[in-house]
Amino acid sequence: MSLSSATDNRNFLVRNKSGNDIPGLKAKDIKHGNLDLVKKHGSLHEFLMWLHQQYGPIAKFWFGEQIVVSIASPQLFKETSRMFDRPEVLLSIFKPLVTEHAIPYANKGDGKWRRNTYDPCFSHESVMRCIEKFQTLAEELLEKWSQTPRDEHIPCRQEALLFTLKAITQTSLGDYFLDEEQITQFWKAYDVCWYDMEERLGGDIPKPGSERERKFNNANKYMKDTLAAAIDYRQKNPTTEKREMLIDVLIENNIPDDMLRGELMSFIVGGFHSSGNLLVWALHFISVYPVVQEKMYQEVKAVLGDTGKVTPVNIAKLVYTRQVMDETLRVAVVSPYAGRYDDEKDVTLGGYVIPTGTPIIHALGVVLNDPVWWPNPKKFDPDRFSPEKVSERHPYSFQPFGFAGKRKCPGYRFAYAEVATALANILLRFQVHEVKGQKVKAKYGLVTTPVDEAWITLTERTSNNSVK
Ligand code: HEM
Repeated sequence: MSLSSATDNRNFLVRNKSGNDIPGLKAKDIKHGNLDLVKKHGSLHEFLMWLHQQYGPIAKFWFGEQIVVSIASPQLFKETSRMFDRPEVLLSIFKPLVTEHAIPYANKGDGKWRRNTYDPCFSHESVMRCIEKFQTLAEELLEKWSQTPRDEHIPCRQEALLFTLKAITQTSLGDYFLDEEQITQFWKAYDVCWYDMEERLGGDIPKPGSERERKFNNANKYMKDTLAAAIDYRQKNPTTEKREMLIDVLIENNIPDDMLRGELMSFIVGGFHSSGNLLVWALHFISVYPVVQEKMYQEVKAVLGDTGKVTPVNIAKLVYTRQVMDETLRVAVVSPYAGRYDDEKDVTLGGYVIPTGTPIIHALGVVLNDPVWWPNPKKFDPDRFSPEKVSERHPYSFQPFGFAGKRKCPGYRFAYAEVATALANILLRFQVHEVKGQKVKAKYGLVTTPVDEAWITLTERTSNNSVK
């Protein structure tokens, strides 16, 4: 089918009052739409960067057979700020992992009920009660690193993801997940599934019965069986903790088994993959920018004082550390997009009428790189997040966790707290160095991760704060 007839046949109208159609692409092919261009640019995020450069802050394109509208400006974000429902188009590929019963696919009253029910598990108070656990995990990590021979490289991605996987499982699933070997096996199985799904997102679907499909299914089954065992264990060993823990809330609300596993998997995936990558990228950036690292170290030393521990009281004083995390979220674009739609009525955006049911992409990463809001956007500069600078910017110019319809990421406080605890502990004990000659390139998927392992080296600080 030719380019023009493909679009004409589907008679898609997104017009403003003067009758002009929304700018953007026509479908090149009826089945694949503009997916060839997505592939050519390397990822959906890189494609969106290009698309908005060509067509401005609102643009349409064909995601396979589905037309979508992408928006990339704080003003347009604000216009969608009450939309709750999420279209499936960007996430359907992940269904085999989290199942169709999971929260990312729940809309309307059902989705809102789930958010109201689960959100208290990640409230400020709940997260503060997790800090002791984060601190213990950070101490374990440092103990392990301190035994690494000097100058030996540390596999930063693996270590960071294992840290955040322990943090979310041990605080949300109870004490079933305490065994190091079990965590490592779970992580390896997850890695197999995640890489496969990212390939699927790029259009590369495994052949039925292939070795690749078999590997994926085995890894997926391993994770599902482990979660089923954790649920069974918790049901037989009820909690004595005061904190609202996700697994207990799900059990108390009689969530059916399939859905329960799906919800836990969604929170584990959200809870360790994106925050693990926040930690990886933060360590990478501070290894490349020693001046930032030194400033952060001085803050950590002053705030943590003699105890050397992060606590619910002192964590809020790690102000510069928070700036470093925010600048990392911005430069690395840890989570590049979100999406919304309205399947009951048309949506008016930027003067254009978008027909009922059309998926709208929030191109979060494009705005995080927009030179209008972030001069010299590739430069890593945590001072952009000084209180004065923040107050001068449009509040929707920095939305790395999404924003619309009270459906912002439920784990954002948890992510900041666990990563701040890890960073503060690491900096207090070590200087972090980049490995010379290493080029750490980003792979932009649903989460942005280094293409290969990101290696760092460490130098232990002595008690008088010079380095060994
Ligand atoms: C740096 C860390 C993180 C980033 C950048 C991030 C980013 C995001 C984004 C952009 C969304 C989509 C929001 C929207 O649709 O508007 C989201 C959703 C979600 N995140 Fe996170 N996230 C992070 C950490 C976490 C953590 C620690 C957890 C769990 C404790 C978590 C659990 C979830 C869940 C369950 C959803 C789906 C919520 C729903 O469907 O309503 N995330 N996250």
